[in-house]
Amino acid sequence: MKNTLIAPSVLAADFANLQRDIEMINNSEADWFHIDIMDGVFVPNISFGMPVLEAISKHAKKTIDVHLMIVDPDRYIKTFADLGSNILTVHYEACTHLHRTLQAIKAEGMKAGVALNPHTNVSLLEDVIKDIDMVCIMSVNPGFGGQSFIENTYKKVRQLKEIITRNNASTIIEIDGGVTSKNAVQLVEAGADVLVAGNFVFKAENPPETISELKKMTSI
Ligand code: DX5
Ligand code: ZN
Repeated sequence: MKNTLIAPSVLAADFANLQRDIEMINNSEADWFHIDIMDGVFVPNISFGMPVLEAISKHAKKTIDVHLMIVDPDRYIKTFADLGSNILTVHYEACTHLHRTLQAIKAEGMKAGVALNPHTNVSLLEDVIKDIDMVCIMSVNPGFGGQSFIENTYKKVRQLKEIITRNNASTIIEIDGGVTSKNAVQLVEAGADVLVAGNFVFKAENPPETISELKKMTSI
């Protein structure tokens, strides 16, 4: 049976009750904390930065998965390691020397992730796939929570899975954006290993129960 990992996106939490929401994730069946860092340049929105991540790190008892939606992410690799990031994901579109960036992330003791915008073809990762611990396929245009899932994502997951298998790589696949109980199973069947869910979890009547449902339906 496949153990699909569920990563609630803290972007959809109530920032006035952040500790409460962090504890909710700690006590739920969620596997990771997904942390969205936006700079207002790479994406048309600004989320939160280092002081907030520092506060989250103090309370979070699970893997911290940081998704950098920022230009020139190399500037901050060490900072995010020091703040407690376990996985650091940079965007393909934001890196001129992706191979070098991946080595720098690993040198700081973190797992290295690469995120792809919806228009970016997965085949572009072929030559670097063995150096990537996780590929994050964006199933919305990055910048905002609560957007609708782009259906072309299934095809991208299948294509990426084929590249990973063919290269005998151990890369895992994360899906980010618009994930709900309506697309979760199909995503896992296509090859997804980690599902990020923001609004679907935090805007639910019972967030921990919603996490459990996602976990259960994707354990297939
Ligand atoms: C989008 C972010 C996502 C977002 C997901 O730019 O990277 O992680 O928070 O939120 P939902 O699940 O609401 O689409
Ligand atoms: Zn994200």
